[in-house]
Amino acid sequence: MAPGRLLQSGQPRLATFRANQDMALNMARNILINNNIISASELTPECVYLDRRRLLLGGTALALTTATATAAAAAPAQAPMKAALNARYSSTEQPTAYADITGYNNFYEFGTGKDDPRRNAHTLRPRPWSVTISGEVEVPGTLTLEDILAPHALEERVYRMRCVERWSMVIPWVGFPLADFIKRFRPTSKAKYVAFRTLHDPKQMPGQRAGWLEWPYVEGLRIDEAMHPLTLLAVGLYGRLLPNQNGAPLRLVVPWKYGFKGIKSIVAIHFTERRPPTSWNVAAASEYGFYANVNPAVDHPRWSQASERRIGASLFDATRPTLPFNGYAADVASLYSGMDLRRWF
Ligand code: MTE
Repeated sequence: MAPGRLLQSGQPRLATFRANQDMALNMARNILINNNIISASELTPECVYLDRRRLLLGGTALALTTATATAAAAAPAQAPMKAALNARYSSTEQPTAYADITGYNNFYEFGTGKDDPRRNAHTLRPRPWSVTISGEVEVPGTLTLEDILAPHALEERVYRMRCVERWSMVIPWVGFPLADFIKRFRPTSKAKYVAFRTLHDPKQMPGQRAGWLEWPYVEGLRIDEAMHPLTLLAVGLYGRLLPNQNGAPLRLVVPWKYGFKGIKSIVAIHFTERRPPTSWNVAAASEYGFYANVNPAVDHPRWSQASERRIGASLFDATRPTLPFNGYAADVASLYSGMDLRRWF
């Protein structure tokens, strides 16, 4: 048989073998990632990972004034991002790699797998966008994203993020204090709570056709939590415009609470006298409280919250103790003085 023919007839079998091998590896990879056994970065070939990391760390250094060339390329021309680092509120820990922050997500509107949001969130159209402010405020209304951003100087803040599922990251957000935004609407004395709502549009968010949560996703804070200087409205990360999978164009970040309080792609903010419903509390009240303050002393009914796994850290030092209020106790513990945190979890 001519070598050419052998090659021709052998090629499809080789291709099938490789495809099967890829599929098996991918399945194994997804099982490891989805069960929180290992992170995406740990399974990325080292050379690719290191090269990406080198680029990204370059990005962090530039992020002190964050209008990087990459950001400009990734962002629409009308939305340059300049943000000065706010060192007072920033962690000095090694930020998690960009690939992990944007590739290992919880955004059930796009699926329940950790890599579903990255793969599926392209259907979300974060511009044009508007947010409705209502309830107990003197100045209600609907604002475009441009109106929202106009008066605020953007800041970079490097925050720890602790998911209730036991994994954690360190994320360089770009945003502005929620308190500064809220003051613009002059809440009345009846505004005891702030309720947030995500976009509800199954065409843009196909996961909303499934019933794993009640839609739209909703969250809430007590007004003093919302006004706390650590509470941020984020519009970017790593000096770049917020990717869809991370909650574009606008999401909440409350670093002393479990990650599920950080509601994404916000379209409505409502001020109210009564405590508002919150998605995970509605789904399973015995597992997810309204407060959701990070607390190593109060376990989730199905697992311990005493430690966490830092995404992207080496397998040997990934597990670390979880700190009360995620390490922000000096700033926020006084908000809860006199409260039984076992009851108000
Ligand atoms: N917001 C909406 N609208 N939908 C979601 O599924 N998931 C929450 C929170 N905000 C979620 C959401 C959870 S459980 C976590 S841990 C964080 O987003 C994850 O944010 P990240 O994917 O940017 O890390």
